[in-house]
Amino acid sequence: APGVAPVVYGQADRPPRGDYSRASDDYTCAQDYDAYTEADHDTYRRLYERQSALLPGLASQHFIDALPSLGAKDRIPRFEEVNERLRRATGWEIVGVPGLIPEVPFFSLLANRKFPVTDWIRKPEEFEYIVEPDVFHDLFGHVPLLFNPVIADYIQAYGQGGLKAAELGACEMLSRLYWYTIEFGLIREQGGLRAYGAGILSSSGELNYSVRSPEPQRLPLSLERAMRTLYKIDTYQHTYFVIDDLQQLFDLTAADFEPLYRQLRDQPTIAADALLPGEVALQTSAS
Ligand code: PHE
Ligand code: FE
Repeated sequence: APGVAPVVYGQADRPPRGDYSRASDDYTCAQDYDAYTEADHDTYRRLYERQSALLPGLASQHFIDALPSLGAKDRIPRFEEVNERLRRATGWEIVGVPGLIPEVPFFSLLANRKFPVTDWIRKPEEFEYIVEPDVFHDLFGHVPLLFNPVIADYIQAYGQGGLKAAELGACEMLSRLYWYTIEFGLIREQGGLRAYGAGILSSSGELNYSVRSPEPQRLPLSLERAMRTLYKIDTYQHTYFVIDDLQQLFDLTAADFEPLYRQLRDQPTIAADALLPGEVALQTSAS
């Protein structure tokens, strides 16, 4: 997938690429800036250039407005430079990781307003497609919206909720919500649909597909529905969930999820492309 939640990586049938011997107990590591080659910086520059040109009309204005805060476009930014601005904006910081990390350390970082960013970049032959998140997905896809106060609080609350879900054995349900919001969420803006999910925003193909293609179905976000819905990690999504505004996302998830987990545990999962009786998919044109 163009970008995947760390919880997903446990499902991948190949080992992650990163060198975990570099990481401390909390799985973070220093950004190995000297390890980047000129070709690495060039890959970032080309990805940034192509992707930022695709954003108008497809990406959420919240994202477009925040993107310049990332800083350097012509090379991989230093995490410390990004952090100077990010700490001031929302009190978040980014921390380097060697790649996917397990659920509990991931949730702990988020609960402490630390967002893990993979420090290595894809190889040139993976320009179009990569199955693990790299520094481009993590930085370009996720970090701009950490400058937004509503998303900043949402992701921290998600991390706290994740620690609780881990105790309740509910990580799978919660990770589906992450998938369908933080990674692949759509939002209504200016009379149309726009993407705010990082997996879409860092993908050249899925950006247009998710917003404009008649193929996938789009449903208004419902916690119950999203938490039961399986997802694809190696194709474009079959179903996207739409929110009306960022505050709705925050408000929908404010309640204690424990009763919800208990209720959902007895219900079957829903296939990635299923439309249930009574459900009406949103029209792209009328969106
Ligand atoms: N309110 C959720 C709980 O009690 C936590 C949460 C917040 C989950 C935000 C997702 C997003 O578990
Ligand atoms: Fe991601």
